[in-house]
Amino acid sequence: MTDFAGLRAVVTGGASGIGLAAAQLLAARGAQVVVFDLKPEVDAPLTAIAADVSDDGSVRDAVAAAALQLGGIDVVVNNAGIGAQGNVTANDDAEWHRVLDVNVVGIARVTRAALPHLRKSEAAAIVNTCSIAATAGLPNRALYSASKGAVLALTMAMAADHVREGIRVNCVNPGTADTPWVGRLLDVAADPAAERAALEARQPMGRLVSADEVAQAIAYLASPLSGSTTGTALAVDGGMQNLRIPATR
Ligand SMILES: NC(=O)c1ccc[n+]([C@@H]2O[C@H](COP(=O)([O-])OP(=O)(O)OC[C@H]3O[C@@H](n4cnc5c(N)ncnc54)[C@H](O)[C@@H]3O)[C@@H](O)[C@H]2O)c1
Repeated sequence: MTDFAGLRAVVTGGASGIGLAAAQLLAARGAQVVVFDLKPEVDAPLTAIAADVSDDGSVRDAVAAAALQLGGIDVVVNNAGIGAQGNVTANDDAEWHRVLDVNVVGIARVTRAALPHLRKSEAAAIVNTCSIAATAGLPNRALYSASKGAVLALTMAMAADHVREGIRVNCVNPGTADTPWVGRLLDVAADPAAERAALEARQPMGRLVSADEVAQAIAYLASPLSGSTTGTALAVDGGMQNLRIPATR
């Protein structure tokens, strides 16, 4: 499939996990792709620019450099994000500000810097990486869930603001995905094997979502073939949000 031929894409947090899988898939389908990441290490055909989505100057410089390198920007995948654990008492104000700054304000920073370029595109699309945590109450994810709830609302608001400019805005809502992120979570668990089994059991399919499966959804939403799709949240969660199945005995 070469639906992205001639299109230019930026993927934030594209050096690892879901972002890397999305960047590789867009490139395989014909896009020129620049990754923004704190650790700008990727293999060809991807290229990377060091950028911190929590730093407005860094984002502006990176968007300008990407637009120069690519000759424009048609697709933005706002995927960079960080986690937080615990209930509403678990994090101090500084940590609340830090996580919201990366996960929510980061999307605003990248998008507002990229908008002048997207407005010139015939196939402009933004895809935000949201989460099942935006739509389901998960224990010990208060701050993270608040940030992803904001990402969901921001996605819809941006879709409304820019629909008449021909810019589509959607998000993906992954369930627990098998990425280095989850590896780090398991590394600090008292019993990593039991924790992994619990995460898998929480998924109706009995297994974690793969980064490649989330990337397929990101590519679907970003593709010019999906020209009438805007203001949607596409779950890639193994049925976690909507299915009610009996517990296995
Ligand atoms: N893994 C899951 O279970 C899961 C589930 C739902 C949603 N998500 C979301 O998917 C996205 C990607 O997660 P992942 O699992 O691939 O994680 P990951 O840790 O494998 O990759 C995240 C990438 O983002 C980069 N990054 C972090 N902070 C940044 C910043 N300030 N500026 C630029 N880059 C930054 C990291 O360097 C890393 O390369 C996140 O938004 C996360 O909230 C993940």
